[in-house]
Amino acid sequence: MDSSTLQDLLQSTGIRQVRYLASTGSTNTDALAWLAEGVEDFSVIASDEQTSGRGRFDRKWVTNPGVALAFTVIIHPRESEMPYIHLFSPLAGIAVADGLGQALGVRPQIKWPNDVLIDRKKVCGILSETSWNGSRIDGIVIGIGINVLVESKPPAEMVSFPVTCLQDHFQGTIDRWQVLADILQQMNSWREKLGRPEFFQFWQENLAFAGEEVEIQGALGAEVTGRLTGIDPSGELLIETEAGEVSVQVGDVHLRLRG
Ligand code: BTN
Repeated sequence: MDSSTLQDLLQSTGIRQVRYLASTGSTNTDALAWLAEGVEDFSVIASDEQTSGRGRFDRKWVTNPGVALAFTVIIHPRESEMPYIHLFSPLAGIAVADGLGQALGVRPQIKWPNDVLIDRKKVCGILSETSWNGSRIDGIVIGIGINVLVESKPPAEMVSFPVTCLQDHFQGTIDRWQVLADILQQMNSWREKLGRPEFFQFWQENLAFAGEEVEIQGALGAEVTGRLTGIDPSGELLIETEAGEVSVQVGDVHLRLRG
């Protein structure tokens, strides 16, 4: 793969600029640097290997060569999207779930706010980072890592949640770059529905653990336990607790099944 071949392959997805690196530290770090240099809205940087990939909560994300997808989409939010800025990360989860569903016939689910699961195991992680220019948002980089072949699955001691890969759920050969194209196509199309009823409806219909007992741990350690009932029209997670219904904002929170 190289940048110009990938650019050709992604032509119909609406993507603007494309960079491909055989190996890099982290495509999110590269994307933040590209943003500072100047890059068009809806551009992508992808790499075959990451040597210091980053996950949420300062965790590491391993991307071994040739077996996974690791890419970062750069967004310059439009003025009309500013009220929905917190929904860009869920947008990526929705696009991955829809893209994988259509490309491979699997039925992914979204573990709120945006991990993507197949068969209750994590196949995709998403790390969004916002770049500020004073009090204005300069851009958002949305990093997406997908386990494709069996060799992409991290060892059990490195993960806190069961993991899977696309190959575990699909018999044929998987063309990683076509999967990337399908996801970017979906991202472009779902972006037009950001914050609309159909956006929340897809999210809600594909929400993992609906009706089950869960625990939510916030960044400051606050914990909510109860039955996951759904998401509200602003994307907050609804939990039925002993004290009544509680809503949890999209942010740095862990969601776990109880027991
Ligand atoms: C998580 O589940 O903790 C989020 C993982 C995000 C990994 C992706 S891979 C592409 C991009 N580059 C990074 O360094 N991280 C994201």
